[in-house]
Amino acid sequence: MTRRRKIYEGKAKILYEGPEPGTLIQYFKDDATAFNAQKRGTISGKGVINNRVSEHVFTRLAHIGIPTHFIRRLNMREQLVRQVDIIPIEVVVRNVAAGSISTRLGIEEGTPLPHTLLEYYYKDDALGDPLIAEEHIACFNWASHEEMQDISAMAIRINDFLCGMFAAVGIRLVDFKLEFGRLWEGEFARIILADEISPDGCRLWDIETGEKLDKDRFRRDLGGETEAYQEVARRLGLMPEEGEGAVLDLVSHRLRKGR
Ligand code: TMP
Ligand code: ASP
Repeated sequence: MTRRRKIYEGKAKILYEGPEPGTLIQYFKDDATAFNAQKRGTISGKGVINNRVSEHVFTRLAHIGIPTHFIRRLNMREQLVRQVDIIPIEVVVRNVAAGSISTRLGIEEGTPLPHTLLEYYYKDDALGDPLIAEEHIACFNWASHEEMQDISAMAIRINDFLCGMFAAVGIRLVDFKLEFGRLWEGEFARIILADEISPDGCRLWDIETGEKLDKDRFRRDLGGETEAYQEVARRLGLMPEEGEGAVLDLVSHRLRKGR
């Protein structure tokens, strides 16, 4: 195979130069981190599952008119995406109190919020991705007022759609994180959804039992991470293809054997 140029390596993904200008290959790793990479580990098979789940979610979102960077899945761990300038803001959408909002404001986990909350965090590992106000975004030129209008409107539409999509398979969408990018078309840039949507960046609770089906299993040392991620993929009807099936079977086999 020809050597590809690595553009960027993040905590859970690697971006390589794509086959055509303006494209990138997004590779999903099994590496997992939490608490700004103070906790590190791997979740076997996670990259394969996240690639598949994110493909599914981005494809469904495209069907309702949300522009995304996703072009197509290439193989078990890679997808072809459009190259964008990432807006340095993590958009967190919350329906139910959990995680940092519960600790920061003393709201018991599981308390439904009276309405959906949008929060913004400045993407800067050295600063630990601090929570920011919308005023900071314009003040420091991270995004324009018009861009933020597009971003917030899209985040709300995405939330409405995903709440329904997950509820249909018995999952409560507690909260999730989105990233957006600027896609340049000549002199003009428009905002599109980028990154990924997978159990790494969402809180997904079983509607009946409240069981956590997301990265909190890793963050909180609950165990059963791979099974939880697989359960999400299974409920979404993402039947593995032959190759993936083999990987996932191998993962389950190893887990059964305690390896
Ligand atoms: P939080 O409760 O820790 O602020 O997380 C809110 C949601 O955002 C949760 O679903 C996990 C996701 N998230 C990420 O995807 N990346 C991050 O770096 C953080 C802090 C949260
Ligand atoms: N992105 C976080 C980290 O920096 C992980 C998380 O809590 O999702 O490790």
